[in-house]
Parts: sequence; C-alpha cells; structure tokens
Amino acid sequence: MPDTITIIDDRTGKQVTVPITDNVFPASAVRELDPSLFIYDPAFMQTAACQSAITYLDGEAGILRYRGYPIEQLAEQSTYLEVAYLLLNGELPNATQLDQWKQDVTKHTFIHENMRKRFVDGFHYDAHPMGMLVSSIAALGTFYNDAKHIDDRGSRDKQILRLIAKMPTLAAMCYRFSAGLPFVYPDNNLSFPANFLNMMWKIGSYEVDPRLERAMDVLFILHADHEQNCGTTAMRVVGSSQADPYSAAASAASALYGPLHGGANEAVVRMLTEIGSMDEVPAFLNDVKSGKGHRLMGFGHRVYKNFDPRATIIKKTAEDVFEVTGRNPLLDIALKLEEVALSDDYFISRKLYPNVDFYSGLIYQALGFPVAMFTVLFAIPRTAGWLAHWQELLADKDQKISRPRQWYTGTGVRDYVPMTSR
Ligand code: ACO
Repeated sequence: MPDTITIIDDRTGKQVTVPITDNVFPASAVRELDPSLFIYDPAFMQTAACQSAITYLDGEAGILRYRGYPIEQLAEQSTYLEVAYLLLNGELPNATQLDQWKQDVTKHTFIHENMRKRFVDGFHYDAHPMGMLVSSIAALGTFYNDAKHIDDRGSRDKQILRLIAKMPTLAAMCYRFSAGLPFVYPDNNLSFPANFLNMMWKIGSYEVDPRLERAMDVLFILHADHEQNCGTTAMRVVGSSQADPYSAAASAASALYGPLHGGANEAVVRMLTEIGSMDEVPAFLNDVKSGKGHRLMGFGHRVYKNFDPRATIIKKTAEDVFEVTGRNPLLDIALKLEEVALSDDYFISRKLYPNVDFYSGLIYQALGFPVAMFTVLFAIPRTAGWLAHWQELLADKDQKISRPRQWYTGTGVRDYVPMTSR
C-alpha cells in the first residue's frame, strides 16, 4: 500500500498526491490544489501545527514519554529539575551537568524587591492567586530588558533559568499575600520542591517532611509537559510573534487558568465538596448524564481515550501523602465516583476516564494548599514544558507567525445606515 494520499477537487477534477509520514500529510497539498481552499478544523482536532521532539503521547494506549523516557520511570527515579533539563536539552544530564544546572537555577530564585513591594502588594486583598501569578509572570519580564533579544542564545538561556527558578517564588508570594502572611525569601540550601514548600508554609520554625518533598517533586514531574495542549499552544502562538518569553509564558498561564484545562483540579474538589456524601454519587452522575448538571470534572481528555498514565501515578502518590497527612475525607467520594462512572455505559462509550486532575486536587488539599492555589501548582512545573516548546519553535525553520484562517459566515456587503434611519 502506498504511503500517500490523493485529494481530488471534484469541482475541477484537479488532484494532488502527497506523502503520509507518521500518519501526517502536509496541508500544503490543499494549497497546491487551490490556494483559496481552507480546512475547517475548530479546536484543531485534526491539525498538527508543528513538528515536535519533546513529548510523545499515545492517547489510545495511555502512553506518555518525555524525550522518549516513560513518565512512570521518570516519576519513580528522576527529579523535577532533572526532567526540566531533559525537556529543554533533549538528553538526561550527566552528574556534572546536573550539578551545574541545579546551581544555576538555585542562583536565580530571588526576585526584585519591587515585584513584591510595589507590584504584588498592589493587588486587591482577595485577588485569585492564579490571576496574580499570570500578571506577575508578565510583570517579571519588565525587569529584564534583555528578554527581548530572543535571537541571542545567551539571553534565551538566561530567561529560561530565571523563569524556571522564580516561578515557585512568585507562586508562594501570591499565596502569602492572599493569606496576609509575610513573604518568605527563598532558601537556596533547600531542594527545588523543599524550597517551594518552605516559602509556602514557614511560620517560625518549619521543616519539610522528606516524603512530602518527594510527593511535590513527583507532582512537578507529572505536570512538566504534555505536548500541544491549550497552554502550550498559547505559548507557541504568542512566541511565534517573537514576543519575549515572559509575555508568552503569561499567556500560556492564562490558558491554564481555565476550568477545562489547569483549573479542572480546583473544579474537582469543589464538585466533591458539593456532592458531600457517597450516597449522593448516583444522583450526581444522573445529572451529569442528563446534561442538566455539570460535567464530571477530572474525567475525560481530548487525547487520552483509554487511561491517563499520570492519573495512575497520582493515585499512588496520594496514598504516600495521606500516610503523612491523614486521609482526605473527599477521597471516598472520589473513589465511589470513579467506581460507578467506570462501570456506566455513558462514560464507557464516550471513553471518559479519570485524568490527572481527578486525584491531584485531593493531594494538594491534603498538603494544605487552598483550592485557589491548585492551578498555580500546575503552572510551576509546566513552565519547563512551555519553555522547551518555545525554544523548539524558535529553532524551527518551518514556523512563521501563527495566523489561522477563518470561514466567514457573516453578512455580505451592505450600506451604512445613518442613525436617523435605524
Ligand atoms: N463529564 C460528562 N460528559 C463528558 C465529559 C465529562 N467530564 N467529558 C466529555 N463528556 C461527553 C461530552 O458531553 C460529549 O458527549 P456527547 O457526544 O453526547 O455530546 C462526549 O463526552 C465528548 O466530549 P467532548 O467535549 O467532545 O470532548 P473534548 O475532547 O472536546 O473534551 C475535555 C475534553 C475538555 C477534557 C472534557 O472531557 C471535559 O470537559 N472534562 C472535564 C474537565 C476536565 O477534567 N478537564 C481536565 C482535562 S486534563 C488537563 O487539562 C490537565
């Protein structure tokens, strides 16, 4: 069988044959057929907008790999900083490289005093931490005028270090502001996750439990990248205009803020709280199925149509965390929901399974994070993924400024009607 596809324009009889590589064929075939012909593909369901060598995802088989390494192995054996290096550089670091990378990131954890005193202190007292984070990422860019030099490798590398290193600092700062607590400066003697937990929770003496430090790191690893999701696509689209990486990352974070994306774990905990007891689970699911109520948050995925491998790892991490913190009372409702939904034809026939957000919220809550911080916790590690894709985009000779076309369905030309005649 030839690995080609032939498209025939029945209006003209013209046909174009192009190769299929890895199940992808170039849209230039359509251009060749008729430059005024466009493909209608809302939400890019069938469109590969770029080539990427960063993350491999097979939704049918439930496979997720960063640079070829299975997520299960990375979650078991690696650390977030090592994974960030891997995503950005394509290979695992050797001992010297990892040491240097850790030192470099650690050196950049502090932020300019004005970021806190003048910028963050200006937010309204009940500002949502994710809204604060989104704006803080963009504001951070104003402190580094060299960030505009995106053609300069040295400058790019510097901004990457800054963004990865300062995200936990910004995140903790936004939380401490909303809780009315004094800001805790980074402690560069601590690991990346321990430093974050310390900035979050330190009041008087505080020591990070190594089991919780590890759980935080695993959660960071699981969220570090997920190929062309909504946030990463925002990063690429804004990055394609050659905006600086802070502006692009702020738009990626904005996309992540939405409840259908990174906001889902917050929605899961709210949903479980609303359900209230295991007895209410069947009635709640009936509402979901009838379309009267909400969707079952934390279920379903655009790509995973079998299981989300991150959900399996997270369930195990939840057990480790609950050993230290005690069991989250919402867990029983979640387990019941999962059990009933997975045996219900509505969910089975639509291939709806728990996604990464179904259990992550329960862990975050057990760790003490308020629900409003959940998406912030997602944004910290996803920064590595955003930046890896940004780098890849800038090096990709096929890329230009993102500019999709539209199918115009509005009215035809008509004459302006003066106000007196309307
Ligand atoms: N609960 C109930 N029904 C659902 C759900 C759900 N969570 N998700 C999808 N469906 C139904 C839809 O109503 C639709 O049914 P229909 O064919 O009868 O109309 C069918 O399943 C297909 O759904 P789509 O909306 O076409 O699926 P899509 O791929 O566009 O959506 C999404 C994926 C947004 C994740 C969706 O499953 C959803 O809204 N889930 C809940 C929110 C969530 O958990 N998001 C986190 C995703 S993971 C992440 O971003 C990190």
